[in-house]
Amino acid sequence: MVASALLMAEETRSHVVATTGDTARSDYSQYLTPYQTAHLAASMLSDADGGRLRCLDLGAGTGILSVALAERYGGRVDVDCVELDPELARICDGELSQLEIPHRVAVGDALIVPIGPGYDRVILNPPYRKMAAGDVRQAGLPARSPNLYSAFMMVALCALAPGGECVAIVPRSWTNGQYFQQFRAWALSTCSFDAMHVYGSRTEIFSDTNVLQETMLVRFSKRPQAPTVRVSESQVKDGEPVVREYPFDELVDTGGDLAVRVTPAGRGPLDGMATLKASGLCASTGKVVDFRSRDVLRRDYEPGLNRLIYAWNFTSEGYTHPVDSYKPQWIDCSSERFAKQLIPAGSYVVVKRFSSKEESRRVKAHVLDLGEPQTLENHLNYVHAGTPRKTVPLDPALARGLELWLSSSEVDAWFRARSGSTQVNASDLNAMPVPSARQLIELGGRWLLGLTQEEVDGLCRSVLP
Ligand SMILES: C[S@@+](CC[C@H](N)C(=O)[O-])C[C@H]1O[C@@H](n2cnc3c(N)ncnc32)[C@H](O)[C@@H]1O
Repeated sequence: MVASALLMAEETRSHVVATTGDTARSDYSQYLTPYQTAHLAASMLSDADGGRLRCLDLGAGTGILSVALAERYGGRVDVDCVELDPELARICDGELSQLEIPHRVAVGDALIVPIGPGYDRVILNPPYRKMAAGDVRQAGLPARSPNLYSAFMMVALCALAPGGECVAIVPRSWTNGQYFQQFRAWALSTCSFDAMHVYGSRTEIFSDTNVLQETMLVRFSKRPQAPTVRVSESQVKDGEPVVREYPFDELVDTGGDLAVRVTPAGRGPLDGMATLKASGLCASTGKVVDFRSRDVLRRDYEPGLNRLIYAWNFTSEGYTHPVDSYKPQWIDCSSERFAKQLIPAGSYVVVKRFSSKEESRRVKAHVLDLGEPQTLENHLNYVHAGTPRKTVPLDPALARGLELWLSSSEVDAWFRARSGSTQVNASDLNAMPVPSARQLIELGGRWLLGLTQEEVDGLCRSVLP
């Protein structure tokens, strides 16, 4: 049951959402939490007997998460809020005062304002924004943070008392990929990763604020790692979540890059397959960053130029180059710097680096056969038989088998369980289970352009035992 204080906080939130301009919203990342999500976040925290709880709300906005905490613990809370926007801080202070929730509001940057340890409960829906490696606030963090939200999570976890618990509403991007690796290593070694709630639809929870990131709720606590992690999922707003409990090792890739999955590994048809990397293959990212290479890009072909291949050179009809595009399709690689960016003639599988949850397939793979050395733009990954430092082409039949495999529904399901961001990272591809080289070559022998999804899945099933 959601009690009346939370409904009152929701009224304040809705009013602020309706009156906040898009610029202010995106400058401060003011995507305020609806009351249903605030209630769910607070319900993920354990019961607590006895006295009052010291609570912290980082980036408190209008204070709706503090109100949810107060309701969760029957008012037995003393909340410290930190909020950068003085106007929201004022609204938060007024709201909590009116509801008679004991609190203090500090107006300032949560990454700078001194925050002592010793909190029993921390709750946050932090701002999402890239954080530069040179940002002075990095120095105060225990690990490098690529985004404000992971920096807030570190501040939150550092503030916990022994046995304290933290729930954060965050994008899913921290769960995989190299950017967040240091953060994951730090968080998973410092705290117990206890629970997460994932949503069936990306637009489900922040529908009135246009949040496009796939979002999750995660609970950590200042305790030794619990043996199991509780995973709940809701398919529809207000629907009853489906709750499951999985061993920690089945959700966290403890032997690899510590990627966190939302459904366990080792329980499906991909069980027992070697990863792409362990099979002697390697996924790398296209080397040409076009806006850093303007001097050597050319719109028109001249002898001696090489192709610059972009993601949009691949469609369901196959590979075409050059295409009419607002970006130059040719590159002059005569200098040593750009000669190093050429990949040798031969066969590869390229995979687009960005795709969204709403697309029918997250992994978009295409065979690429090069008669001469050419270059790949940075929005493409490519799979080859070399190492991160040396590109070696694939056997052409294996490349075709791998394209079919990466296009299968099995791989799509595996990928969706692992990644909630819009990126398809080379590290995700390297960790992907793949059939043996013999099986991939056999599959490649049946490759045809323009197969339907059913045909691709049928072929993949036919070569697997
Ligand atoms: C995603 S909103 C969430 C607000 C509120 N906690 C909620 O759940 O509705 C993030 C909040 O963090 C605030 N904020 C942004 N950058 C901040 C910073 N560096 N320090 C403190 N607060 C910040 C924003 O003004 C905004 O209120």
